[in-house]
Amino acid sequence: MKNIDFHAHILPCCDHGSDGSKTSFSQLTLAREASVDIICATPHYYGEKENVGSFLERRKVCFERLMEKRKDSLPKILTGAEILAFEGIERLPDLDKLCLENTNILLMEMPFNHWSGKLVDSVGALCESGDYTVVLAHADRYSSEKVERLLEYGALIQLNAESLSHIIVKKSLKNYIEWDTVYALGSDIHLLGDGYNHWKKFRTRHKDLFNRIMENTNSLLF
Ligand SMILES: [Fe+2]
Repeated sequence: MKNIDFHAHILPCCDHGSDGSKTSFSQLTLAREASVDIICATPHYYGEKENVGSFLERRKVCFERLMEKRKDSLPKILTGAEILAFEGIERLPDLDKLCLENTNILLMEMPFNHWSGKLVDSVGALCESGDYTVVLAHADRYSSEKVERLLEYGALIQLNAESLSHIIVKKSLKNYIEWDTVYALGSDIHLLGDGYNHWKKFRTRHKDLFNRIMENTNSLLF
């Protein structure tokens, strides 16, 4: 079973997650020290600011810059995106190109404030289309009432390690795991933040929950 970090901002200068190759290699080294085998590089995608083609071109340049010097001992990188949902996203041209590499998975971030009915319908339409597997990014940031609206459509959940690293895990998050809706764990690392410290704490303190999520991620990807 591979340890997979499903959500990380590690591509040099692609978004505010890394200010250059040096930071990116430090992030990859921290991931390796946390026994991460595979990292999904998921830079932010904001559909209102940029079209998919230009985002992909930018991501490619950043990815190649990183791969030029990447050592084999560091985790393998898969490219994806953290997509901010908006009303009508189901009609975004080339949306399929934002899926995680070689999958039909969209990592979808919701706004922090109000979720309009139309927005939920748009994300729900993607879930129900049969074309995509929608994974809700850092579901720990939203109220369980909101998250459950998307679970009803068949969305899956990604949790940030930070939300699970405490000795006592919040009941709502434990429920998501026990309902078998959590298919991904993320460091959501930005710069040299604490993402992998939280990752290690969660793995050590709650090995059963950690393994359950990793088994689901492996079943989703392989
Ligand atoms: Fe993120």
